[in-house]
Amino acid sequence: MSEKVVLAFSGGLDTSISVSWLMKKHNLDVITATVDVGQDEDFEAIEKKAYAIGASKHYTIDAKNEFITDYIFPAIKSNALYQNKYPLATALGRPLIAYKLVEVATKEGTKIFSHGCTGKGNDQARFDVTLRSVLSDAKIIAPVREENMSRDEEIEYAKDLNVSIEKKSQYSIDENLWGRSIEGGILEDSYEEPPKDIYKWIDIESNLPTKYLEIDFSDGIPVSIDGVTDSLQMINHLNTVAGQYGIGVVDHMEDRLMGIKSREIYEAPAAFTLIEAHKDLEKLVLTRNELEMKSLLEQKWSWMIYSGLFVDPLVNAINSFINKTQERVNGTVKLKLKNGSLTVVGRKSENSIYDQNLSSYSSSSNFNQTFSKGFIEIWGLQSKFNEGDKK
Ligand code: ARG
Repeated sequence: MSEKVVLAFSGGLDTSISVSWLMKKHNLDVITATVDVGQDEDFEAIEKKAYAIGASKHYTIDAKNEFITDYIFPAIKSNALYQNKYPLATALGRPLIAYKLVEVATKEGTKIFSHGCTGKGNDQARFDVTLRSVLSDAKIIAPVREENMSRDEEIEYAKDLNVSIEKKSQYSIDENLWGRSIEGGILEDSYEEPPKDIYKWIDIESNLPTKYLEIDFSDGIPVSIDGVTDSLQMINHLNTVAGQYGIGVVDHMEDRLMGIKSREIYEAPAAFTLIEAHKDLEKLVLTRNELEMKSLLEQKWSWMIYSGLFVDPLVNAINSFINKTQERVNGTVKLKLKNGSLTVVGRKSENSIYDQNLSSYSSSSNFNQTFSKGFIEIWGLQSKFNEGDKK
């Protein structure tokens, strides 16, 4: 009897050819697992396909709520944007998928895993590092990476093996609740404007009447958006509404873990809106020093997640700092949406440290301006020694 392997199966080209590769080249019994992290897919069709191409057993695992609570919420608290742009949708989803593979493998009594990642991207690191953090002796087979296959070679291989592949778009697309990424094809030309038909969530020519949106936060996480209070519905609602208003398109040059630069397009209406609103509320309730330190740690957090180190102890340590600050991030943010622009137009909080009386230019202010003269004398003390610029 052959040994079992658990393969992360999306139903796409890479994972489909992996099924037959694992059977034919490695003589393994292939168990496929598809994890639902909010991608818009027909999971029954994926299951059928898995069996049709040789899987002996298939699992479909709904992990949407876990994805929100344990991955998306920490990302909101961390205002997580890799290179100030990418909300990390795929990067956050991969460790969760890896954990689900381990659950399946434990049930099935195997320590052999497989995924369809190439050797050029970041996803291989996210899968491998997470799997090995739970099972240090896990064996991981990544057929596309091992065979150094190009996409064209994969298509040829699929034909030879009679693996049915749908007419594939020129793009490599990944999708979950936190965003949709589009890479490859004509987009590889960094100067080429993305064709309109690559967008699925966002109306880039939106011309709807102005809409106001209120988001309530409690301990740094959204608890009500536009009156919607269920977490999954909130994110879906925001992806739909902000998407209709053209909010959340990213087009940037990204530095991958392996040192390769790549041109990436993202659609992330909910992520973009929530992070904008959350950042704004933090500025009402946190001190300047807290904000400064937090912003440094946010950069580090985003890099750790991006580069596959979600399980690293540093991430936990940063989370502790961030969670402490979030105890005061309670309140409401008012946003205005119009033609691709999102503007925060109001914020309020029971923890606000904004004192209108202090900042006001009106005569009623109780700030003693006479103290400022002495403070500035001392503040600028050493700046007087800048001899070079003296006239
Ligand atoms: N560049 C993004 C990232 O590294 C998107 C990756 C999408 N993955 C994919 N297999 N298409 O997270």
